[in-house]
Amino acid sequence: MSKISVQLGERSYEIVIEPGVLDRAGAEISSMHRGGTVAVISNPRVAGLYASALTRSLDAAGIPHSVFAVPMGERYKSLSTCRKLYEHFLDIKLDRAGMVIALGGGVIGDLAGFTAGTFVRGVDFVQIPTTLLAQVDASVGGKTAVDLPRGKNLVGVFHQPKRVLIDTNTLKSLPKRELRAGLAEVFKHGIIHDQYLFDFTRDNAEALLNAEPTALEVVIRRSCEFKADVVRRDERESGLRAILNFGHTIGHAIETLTGYSRFKHGEAVSMGMAAAARLSAVWGYCTQDACNNLITLLEAAGLPVQLPSMERDSCLAAIQKDKKRALGTIRMVLMKSIGEVFIEEISTEKLASAFKDTLQMQ
Ligand code: NAD
Ligand code: GLY
Repeated sequence: MSKISVQLGERSYEIVIEPGVLDRAGAEISSMHRGGTVAVISNPRVAGLYASALTRSLDAAGIPHSVFAVPMGERYKSLSTCRKLYEHFLDIKLDRAGMVIALGGGVIGDLAGFTAGTFVRGVDFVQIPTTLLAQVDASVGGKTAVDLPRGKNLVGVFHQPKRVLIDTNTLKSLPKRELRAGLAEVFKHGIIHDQYLFDFTRDNAEALLNAEPTALEVVIRRSCEFKADVVRRDERESGLRAILNFGHTIGHAIETLTGYSRFKHGEAVSMGMAAAARLSAVWGYCTQDACNNLITLLEAAGLPVQLPSMERDSCLAAIQKDKKRALGTIRMVLMKSIGEVFIEEISTEKLASAFKDTLQMQ
């Protein structure tokens, strides 16, 4: 069992990493529960697997609750789903003494967190992430959002959870493709800051893809420690936190241009990281060897590294709509070496010509 503290003054909270913690979730949250109804938000697959363990533990702790299953898929991370959730919250008389629990992957975490952050100007919120991607990244740090048809995460709030409960046993039922997608975010943390984590993930990829608990605990703990530290230093992404977006500028454009359905978020991030590494090498920020090393390792873990066919103008337009754009330029995270990245404002002209020459976009 590991406990990591996210130090944010009165918004501080703990991340608990423990196989089986779901079975005692009620006891974990009872000290912070203020007496009202708890709305558990999940999807049919995850609820079918894990909602009964959670509701049993809430019953045992005497916490009133209801479960709402949102249909599966990124396309339900939308304002129309939020509206249904707000109606449900009214039906069950959720108020500020209540709480929202997200039980699921990053889609459910972002959606449940956003509705919790906006309903009656904010109710308490607990994350119980059940994908590797959500356990190493999405459940920590308080970014919540929904998508608009023209771009990802365009409507959102910072709303920190009161606690994050990570039960590594839930990853045993996760399909391999989802585990791989989660590994992309672990590699990302390694590339940004932690050569040990990068090497460990490379050397233990098979054990991780077999949901081996000891290996999982290492990558989840190190990822959460790193993310907690970045969030503590820059909660609202006024600077440093943007390094966590390595691979996301092009990754988000891929997701948008392929309708959020062809690729998993982690797969899009993998292609985005490979593209960012290629650009870093061609612009002379990192060696070609470092770039090749990264791409070879992503490929060895079964992650995609070649961009899908995309028109250069559409890709640039999608990137310009991305909320992380600074006026007139594109803010990109580029690589110096494995373990070190930096943020650079790139002119759209420079990016357009690199898209053509280096990334072979038409
Ligand atoms: P996801 O939430 O779509 O989950 C992937 C699939 O796995 C779903 O079909 C789900 O039903 C299934 N699933 C979940 N847990 C399972 C389990 N234990 N066993 C079997 N099946 C299970 O995808 P994701 O990769 O977890 O999250 C992607 C989302 O997270 C994107 O919307 C992305 O934008 C967001 N995200 C947010 C942040 C943040 O900081 N807020 C960071 C990274 C990603
Ligand atoms: N996943 C990027 C962030 O939380 O800032």
